[in-house]
Amino acid sequence: MEKTTPDVEGMLKITDTRTNKEYQIPIQHDTIRASDLRQIKVKEDDFGMMSYDPAFMNTASCISRITFIDGERGILHYRGYPIEQLAETRTYLEVAYLVLNGELPTKKELEDWTLNIKNHTFVHENVKQLMEGFRYDAHPMGIFVSTLAALSTFYPDSKKVLDPEMRQRQIWRLIGKVPTIAAFAYRHSLGMPYIYPDNDLNYTENFLSMMFKVGEKQYKPNPILSRALDVLFTLHADHEQNCSANTMRSIGSSHSDPYCSSAGAAAALYGPLHGGANEQVLRMLDEIGTKDKVPEFVKSCKEGHGRLMGFGHRVYKNYDPRAKIIKKMADEVFSVTKKDPKLEIALELERIALEDDYFVKRKLYPNVDFYSGLIYKAMNFPTDMFPVLFAIPRMSGWLAQWQEMLTDQEQKIARPRQIFLGYSKRDVPK
Ligand code: ACO
Repeated sequence: MEKTTPDVEGMLKITDTRTNKEYQIPIQHDTIRASDLRQIKVKEDDFGMMSYDPAFMNTASCISRITFIDGERGILHYRGYPIEQLAETRTYLEVAYLVLNGELPTKKELEDWTLNIKNHTFVHENVKQLMEGFRYDAHPMGIFVSTLAALSTFYPDSKKVLDPEMRQRQIWRLIGKVPTIAAFAYRHSLGMPYIYPDNDLNYTENFLSMMFKVGEKQYKPNPILSRALDVLFTLHADHEQNCSANTMRSIGSSHSDPYCSSAGAAAALYGPLHGGANEQVLRMLDEIGTKDKVPEFVKSCKEGHGRLMGFGHRVYKNYDPRAKIIKKMADEVFSVTKKDPKLEIALELERIALEDDYFVKRKLYPNVDFYSGLIYKAMNFPTDMFPVLFAIPRMSGWLAQWQEMLTDQEQKIARPRQIFLGYSKRDVPK
């Protein structure tokens, strides 16, 4: 059952020892409103008290009903449904519908949703030309970010962000087009002709066709691999207020269109501490080279020389439930593809790290990025493409967060405060 907003649960009593004044701040959802602190002042014309929270370690920036994470227990739900059940029984497109609309689609709703997305898989020919302007060795994520932003110029109607019908159209467009843009970015790096969408295929089959089709009439990927990719897409659909979702909300809060907002979100995802970590995991496994070098590598991480990529999470202080599903799926994928020798290094890394005091004390467990790269690699995706593979399904989450933000009466343009410790006024030297 969806939670309703309870009345105030109690009051937080605060005594300001500077003035000996007492305040009572209402508590709701185990939270106080930061703006209630503003009444705490020494002098009447003071600005009032703020809370200081670099990197939002303990600040709720919104009320959300999309994704629930219990980081201590390793639990992830989309709209109340456990990720394990969704990954096993539903397709990514059904999950994207759920994330965006709050409920799983009926048969008819799914047919309409799929059709609308298929109607938007093609990109304007000028977009193709624009992508051709990139150097042959441009990172596909750079191309992806820039092309998303460029779409804004093709769809000026997308600026009407407060119009629900306009929003819906951009949602179809973006979910429909991201696989096309991603595949074109890859083909560009190879100097190979772009493959147009094949709407007779499902979402992941079509993406694989645009990526890997060469001379055949119709590309038909191995069903185990296209299903595995579909599950990976489900696992990456949303993850509540992570760095890129927060960026999407923040840019969107100025009523920027969703193409510019999602370009910003994708840029945030690109960083190696976020969605770029899957790429870094593979580079790290390459650097380690062989299983016997693992203890030495772990030691150097503990001594502060770099991080164990794919380990640790701001919210999960337990095994990331997505990593568990991916690890299980790896065997199925490797039954079709060659087993990657790097899997042995990864398993050894995990084994040693999970027993090591340094990682145990800090509750550092494998996250979603630890094993996903090995699967992508086995499926023939180049390492550069890994963050792009993360961005394609995360588009549904970004759009859901964006839409929730725009329809929340309490939200305004995102604008944090600062503690200013620079110079007070001084005159420019003559
Ligand atoms: N390897 C070694 N030590 C680590 C790691 C790691 N991967 N992650 C955290 N630590 C250590 C830190 O050095 C710190 O130690 P200290 O207390 O002695 O200073 C402690 O654990 C806490 O780390 P923070 O950086 O404060 O934790 P934070 O919540 O800010 O960072 C993050 C989370 C960015 C994910 C971090 O764990 C990390 O850098 N991991 C590697 C990159 C990665 O895999 N990112 C993907 C995350 S999942 C995603 O975005 C999809």
